[in-house]
Order: sequence, then C-alpha cells, then structure tokens
Amino acid sequence: MRAALRDHVGRLTDGELPAYVYDLPDLREHVRAVRAALPDRVELLYAAKANADPRILGALAGHVDGFEVASGGELGHVRALFPDAPIAFGGPGKTPQELARALDAGVERLHVESAHELRLLASLSAGRTADVLLRVNLPVDPGRAALVMGGHPSPFGMDPAQLDHCLELIAAVPGIRLRGLHLHLASGLTAPAQLALIDEILTWAEDWARRRGVDLSEVNAGGGMAVDYAHPHTRFDWPAFGAGLRRRLARHPRLTLRIEPGRSLTAYCGWYVTQVLDLKCSRGQAFAVLRGGTHHLRTPAAKQHDQPFEVIPDDVWPRPWGRPEARDEPVTLVGQLCTPKDVLARRVRVERLRVGDRVAFAMAGAYAWNISHHAFLMHPRPAFHHLDEAEAPGPGAYTRRRS
Ligand SMILES: Cc1ncc(COP(=O)(O)O)c(C=O)c1O
Repeated sequence: MRAALRDHVGRLTDGELPAYVYDLPDLREHVRAVRAALPDRVELLYAAKANADPRILGALAGHVDGFEVASGGELGHVRALFPDAPIAFGGPGKTPQELARALDAGVERLHVESAHELRLLASLSAGRTADVLLRVNLPVDPGRAALVMGGHPSPFGMDPAQLDHCLELIAAVPGIRLRGLHLHLASGLTAPAQLALIDEILTWAEDWARRRGVDLSEVNAGGGMAVDYAHPHTRFDWPAFGAGLRRRLARHPRLTLRIEPGRSLTAYCGWYVTQVLDLKCSRGQAFAVLRGGTHHLRTPAAKQHDQPFEVIPDDVWPRPWGRPEARDEPVTLVGQLCTPKDVLARRVRVERLRVGDRVAFAMAGAYAWNISHHAFLMHPRPAFHHLDEAEAPGPGAYTRRRS
C-alpha cells in the first residue's frame, strides 16, 4: 500500500469502516503504461462492467479510446458522463429497448450476439445506421483460463456456421454495416496465451473474410488479460503483449485490432479497508471476524481465492480485558454474514492480528463492490474514498462520497 493511501486509512475513524479506497493516481499511471505499451493501431476500450465508478471512468477517460458497455444501464451511465466517448455495446440478451437506446445514442459499435438479435436490430433501425461486429464463438482451445466463454458450447456469440445467415441479413438492410468480428473467448490469460489466441483469431478471421468476400477492417479480441490474485505484484506483461501485437499487425496491414480489458486495468487501484471485530479459536483454527464481508467484496467468494491483504496495526486498546489476538499462525478472515461462505481469505499466516487492527484488502478495484449482494443482512454500506493527488494536491487531496 502506498504511503499516501496508508495515511488516508490511518485518518479514518472506526465508524468510517468498512470503506473502499480508490487510488486514482496509481490507476492513471497504470493505464498510461498500458497505453504506451500498445501499438497505435490497437484501440483500447475499457470494459465498464469491471467497475463503472464515475471517478474511475474519469481517471481512465483520457487514456483509453472508449468504453465497452454490456447493458442499457451501463450505456446510459457512460453516455451521460462522456457524451463524446466512443462506445461499443456488447453482451448477450439485449432487449428491444436496449437496442433502440443504442441506436438513439448512436453507439460507435454494436456487438451482435445472434441472428435473432440482428433481425431485431434491423427491425428497429428505421433508416438509422448501425455499425456492427458479429460476435463469434470460435472452435479454439483458449488453454488455461479463469473463465471460458467460447471454444465450446456457450450462450456467448454465434457458431461460425451462423455467420453466413447474418451476412445475408446484413446485405438486405442498408442501414446495417458490417465492420468486422468480435471475440471474447476467455478471461485470465497471460500475455503469451493471449497472443497465441489472437494469432488463431486473426488467421481464422482473415481466411473467413477472404472466402466470403467480406471487407474485414476490424477485429475486437475482447478482454480477459490475466490478474493473479495469488501474486499481487505479478502483472500482465503489457510490454511483451504490445511487442507481440506489433509483430502480428505487421502481417495484417489493413486491420484495426481492438481490445476491451476490464479487470487488468482497474483491479489494482481499489482497496477494501475494514477492521477486526472478533477473533476466536475454533477447534484449533483461528478465525478473525471483520466488519463487512463478501456482501461488500464478493470477489474471493466468486473466484474462490484468498483476497490478498495487509494488516494495519492499531495499537489503541480501550477495553479493560485482554486483547484477543492471533500470532504467527494461519487465520481465516470472515465477514459478518450468517453463512460459512462469507470467507475473504482462508488460513493465511499472519505475524500478528488483533481485535481492532485494520485489514486492507488489495486488488478490490474490479468486479468487487459492483458484483456483491449488498442487501443481504442489511449491514451499512461502505463509504467510498477517491485518493486523487493529481486533482487536489495538499491537505485537500482526499475526496469522499457515500454511495
Ligand atoms: C465481452 C466482454 N468483453 C470484455 C470483458 C472484460 O473482461 P476482463 O475484465 O476479464 O478483462 C468481458 C468480461 O466478461 C466480456 O464479457
């Protein structure tokens, strides 16, 4: 945890916990480095589903080429914040209302998931133009991945055989323009695995386009760049990825390649900070019960991992009885929910952890608060803090909002 962040956490009272703290300068530095590593011909969209917090989107806005949204809600949210930002609208099961909204909003790209969705779009277009990418589920093996959305039977995209029917439909509707193909086949791929997959995608896409006489100008290869929660300091190798893309794009001189990562951009800037409420030993194993839990930070429950954390000791102990503590032993960190699934980290060795100490969970900036079941048990919501030295230097460097 950076010193500025630790200072901020130190100034929070117990009553202000749990809290999410977003490190916006760190986010800007990260996305700047990602952009710098990529060739100019690669367009970088941010998948807003990872975290659509307005200040996070604001910090990214100057560094990405646009946003990928996956619902009418996300579309409205992003358009309202950035009226001029390019938007790609994807995701399965778009409703007629969402498609109409996308046409009204003039989104730059619509990612079409099926022939039915294309027909629906055509029926709603009423003379308006829609630039579409057809989402394909290619029969490839994405290798070792955290989540696999393609390469096997899946509700995402369409089988290659269904593309011909879509080409016929597009030819019959003047307002619908085919720009290219979209593929998001897996999440959690390392740079070499992503490059190998992109090789397969580009080779297949160009071959398909040549055989069908399609003028293929764009391929969106999706997101899914790996984030390793077990090794917080090991990041996706953006320089190697960028160099690999540069070599590949040289072989495809007319193609614009687009990527739309979410997790790998924002995971690192977020911290979920809380406090130990109770500490007990059950049949030889130590459990620390924390304020909050997976109803605020569902990531470890959803992904079945230990959320990495730092202990921030608080030496004040106002009670007249002895302070419960664990010393140099494995501790399971749980939340306040009445379910054994409310586990943030399991049997992780700590040097010392006491009731009243603070615990800051790292890598809580993506698929964290926004995927959590907030209403369960009606505990108070966390506060949200945005550390932003760049905007407000000096003592007023910290801004706060309660969601
Ligand atoms: C179509 C699409 N694009 C991009 C993403 C972002 O993936 P990630 O956050 O793993 O980079 C997702 C995530 O599910 C997705 O479904």
